[in-house]
Amino acid sequence: MKQVKTTENTAANVIIRFEDVGKIYKTGQVVYEALKHVNLEILDGELVVILGPSGSGKSTLLNMLGGLDSATSGRIFFGSKEITALDDKKLGEFRALDVGIIFQFYNLIPTLTAYENVDLMNDLGLDTMDSLEALKMVGLAERRNNFPSQLSGGQQQRVSIARAIAKKPKLLLCDEPTGALDTNTGREVLKLLQDQSRVHGRTVVMVTHNDMFAEIADKVIMVKNGTVEEVIVNEKPKDADELEW
Ligand SMILES: Nc1ncnc2c1ncn2[C@@H]1O[C@H](COP(=O)(O)OP(=O)(O)OP(=O)(O)O)[C@@H](O)[C@H]1O
Ligand SMILES: [Mg+2]
Repeated sequence: MKQVKTTENTAANVIIRFEDVGKIYKTGQVVYEALKHVNLEILDGELVVILGPSGSGKSTLLNMLGGLDSATSGRIFFGSKEITALDDKKLGEFRALDVGIIFQFYNLIPTLTAYENVDLMNDLGLDTMDSLEALKMVGLAERRNNFPSQLSGGQQQRVSIARAIAKKPKLLLCDEPTGALDTNTGREVLKLLQDQSRVHGRTVVMVTHNDMFAEIADKVIMVKNGTVEEVIVNEKPKDADELEW
């Protein structure tokens, strides 16, 4: 792996750019600086892994990327669009159209079947993938009528991936997507996510505290105490199926 300074990395296909981004949380009298002077660039179609210890600011960074929370200072760009300059309506459109999100604990609706959970995206009136097609992509077409409680953790996570990719987002964000899974199931989920980048050309950003996952990434962003400590470009990322942990 080779270290590259982000400032030198000004390729034309930059999809995300952070310019001196800061995030301060205020809870009553308590002020906490969760992100400080973050500068980074992510290229279109890259698989990016954000690594760092608990409390270092990984989820905060991911939330900024997806327009789920606002930066306190600095500027964030998605392509030529400045996210930090959008009003609430435009920001909502950005999240709805361009961003798919996968969480550690799936966030499926328990009273809806696998199919219905994925099909929710169609109700938004977006240009979505056929819901059955999305379930097929994650190998779960035959379980479409099962409720989340009738599926294993790995299967529920695959439904949540189907739901996220069904809207064909440019950007797929994942916060500890394998956190609740065993190694084999986790590897399958990582393979699905890597394919989203390699086969489907989506930009995939994954937060984890498992160092091993750095090996499958095109780019690794190391976060520590709210700052980007290092950005590593991986010339030869491993296939997710080869990963051992
Ligand atoms: N809404 C909030 N209000 C106040 N402080 C917050 C809020 N969200 C996060 N923080 C604080 O910001 C810091 C970074 O939190 P963040 O969730 O980004 O960490 P993380 O790297 O994702 O950690 P973990 O690996 O445990 O998920 C933590 O100290 C956390 O307590
Ligand atoms: Mg987190």
